[in-house]
Amino acid sequence: MKLIVGNWKMFPESLREAAMLARSVKKAALRATTTRVVVCPPHVFLLPVKTIAGKSRLALGAQDCFFEEKGARTGETSPAMLRDIGVSSVILGHSERRALGETSEFVAKKIAAATKEGLSPILCIGERERTGDEGGHYAVVRDQLLASLFGVPQKTASSLVVAYEPVWAIGANAKRAATPEDFREIAVLIRKHLSELFGKAAAFRVPILYGGSVDERNAGGFLREGGADGLLIGRVSLASEQFNAIVRIADTL
Ligand code: PGA
Repeated sequence: MKLIVGNWKMFPESLREAAMLARSVKKAALRATTTRVVVCPPHVFLLPVKTIAGKSRLALGAQDCFFEEKGARTGETSPAMLRDIGVSSVILGHSERRALGETSEFVAKKIAAATKEGLSPILCIGERERTGDEGGHYAVVRDQLLASLFGVPQKTASSLVVAYEPVWAIGANAKRAATPEDFREIAVLIRKHLSELFGKAAAFRVPILYGGSVDERNAGGFLREGGADGLLIGRVSLASEQFNAIVRIADTL
């Protein structure tokens, strides 16, 4: 089973467009037999998209949440609130939030809080850049992974998803996507550290996704040669034809 996650970021610009996109993606999710499709709209569109998804196979994710259950926290959303409207996953530690000051310490607290509420946390990690061939990025990825999971309960492993997203490959200014080989190598490293934290059996059940400039041309390579358990897709998740084509590719594997 592959997991295809669309991260809509701060798009689209209107509820009407969000609804159109959701209706189109729902069709692809319904046709998929083995692939699980999750869309992560901005918070303000979560409920309308949930209404469109209904009880279908299209699952809903949020792009962030807070780590406390309730309180005087202006602008924040609790995991329980997300759960209450039918959200099942939450992206945490995305590089665009880390760039705004989100620390791994916060991410770890959010992961624990989300798990406690029954949400599946999609933890994003990835190096900002690669300098030469020294392999410095291995340490960056390891440190981020360990810090983002520091102190989280063991039971987190059963719902955790990890997305490797090298920052240099994300967004419109990215020079290129990583290669399936890049992904495969890092996935081994991530799996090794997850094994140390949660034990081998639990670690091998954690889906590891690739994200960063994924489109319908390179998706198959990451899933097949790269061995990715799924994909986290930004820009292309807003282009429903392309996104749905990726869902079809995943579903043939
Ligand atoms: P991208 O974004 O697909 O637009 O590169 C991926 C992400 O930020 O999750």
